[in-house]
Amino acid sequence: NEESAVTITVVGASGDLAKKKIFPALFHLYYEDCLPKHFTVFGYARSKMTDEEFRNMVSKTLTCRIDKRENCSEKMDEFLRRCFYHSGQYDSEENFVELDKKLREQEGGRISNRLYYLSIPPNIFIDAVRCASSSASSVNGWTRVIVEKPFGRDSESSAALTRGLKQYLEEDQIFRIDHYLGKELVENLSVLRFSNLIFEPLWSRQYIRNVQLIFSEDFGTEGRGGYFDHYGIIRDILQNHLLQILAIFAMETPVSLKAEDIRNEKVKVLRSMKPLLLENVAIGQYKSHTRGGITYPAYTDDKTVPKGSRTPTFAAAALFIDNARWDGVPFLMKAGKALHTKRAEIRVQFRHVPGNLYNKSFGTDLDQATNELVIRLQPDEAIYLKINNKVPGLGMRLDNSHLNLHYAARYSKEIPDAYERLLLDAIEGERRLFIRSDELDVAWELFTPVLKEMEEKKIIPEYYPYGSRGPVGAHYLAAKYNLRWGDMY
Ligand code: BG6
Repeated sequence: NEESAVTITVVGASGDLAKKKIFPALFHLYYEDCLPKHFTVFGYARSKMTDEEFRNMVSKTLTCRIDKRENCSEKMDEFLRRCFYHSGQYDSEENFVELDKKLREQEGGRISNRLYYLSIPPNIFIDAVRCASSSASSVNGWTRVIVEKPFGRDSESSAALTRGLKQYLEEDQIFRIDHYLGKELVENLSVLRFSNLIFEPLWSRQYIRNVQLIFSEDFGTEGRGGYFDHYGIIRDILQNHLLQILAIFAMETPVSLKAEDIRNEKVKVLRSMKPLLLENVAIGQYKSHTRGGITYPAYTDDKTVPKGSRTPTFAAAALFIDNARWDGVPFLMKAGKALHTKRAEIRVQFRHVPGNLYNKSFGTDLDQATNELVIRLQPDEAIYLKINNKVPGLGMRLDNSHLNLHYAARYSKEIPDAYERLLLDAIEGERRLFIRSDELDVAWELFTPVLKEMEEKKIIPEYYPYGSRGPVGAHYLAAKYNLRWGDMY
């Protein structure tokens, strides 16, 4: 509705996520004219700040991305004039009542739609929701709440969080973010599968030998060790980002593109997964390494990490889906910090060509060169298919070449940040890319037993040098299934 007001309150406005992601994303939405006519951004946090000081803080987080964007600085000023701040405690109803008063002033008597973004640690989610909902009881538009992971540490804590939130909110008011779902190429996965004839018929155990989901970062925890050490890489990346990609990759065709139809299929495939066994997990932790005269720190050198911590900063896992489509196909996942490169990709390795004529006739070693579909989520987004091709010339030599859709070459438009897509969807009430509570439950059911077993047995991670390709345990895991990681070659 043109005449209703939308206020976006960032609870935890002085935190890292707000500065790095939320404000810049809101500004880009504003720049692209995607925000409603009457929108206001409110920052809420404990530190005392005036509106001016807040605007100043926000302005430092904004960029025009491309230097010569038209009117960028005017647009920034306009955007900043719509930003306000209120300082308060996260568990004080009184402070939220004061905030509510300011929100009303800005809403100017219009129908008020409110989006709260909880950019705060999960142990204070419920207090904040309780206080916000008690003060906003007479709001006559919609109220939605975005929450960020970690949604608990295991099945029990996640269920407790869900119960807590549901005391004050309906499920359809809760928008659980997994920002990987907002990434352009993750969104494109379904397009690739369901709107091209050539992929979907191959999308099964009949043609696919294994699927690899790979996440690597070329930096360590860098001061985030306090948070990270409590969770570890399995909870930080595998249980959410990589598992979400797996669900979209492997789900059956949804009835429609409606949020509930898609989420129903995701839950179904996740429920079909076999329990994850400890023997199918390899973990590692980065150690210090000197290269080119520079010494890179060990994980445990990070001052925010408890001394002697054994928290994994790398993990690889082999998962299986027990259904007709995927029976026996390994889904290999690996994620690590402080590796040699920053990259996230999906690699689909196809089966060998049966009775390959060229292998027989020319003794070429095509085993290494099976078809592989690579979907590079970041950086330098691309989709390419590795095919065997004749090297031009009079002889008969084959090589493995790429049919390549390279985004930067094909599309001139820049790719929006995941948070832009997700914030816009939350404002529009589109739930397709948010995690429903039953999805979250199954994701935890899959990982909780193995996480507990690892903790009970005090499994020691294998140490790998900062900047390396990770521990050899990951190779052994792939080799167990006669496979190789596609990113190693
Ligand atoms: C977050 C993790 O969810 O994703 C971080 O908590 C990680 O540890 C980050 O660095 C990676 O996100 P992106 O979008 O930079 O790949």
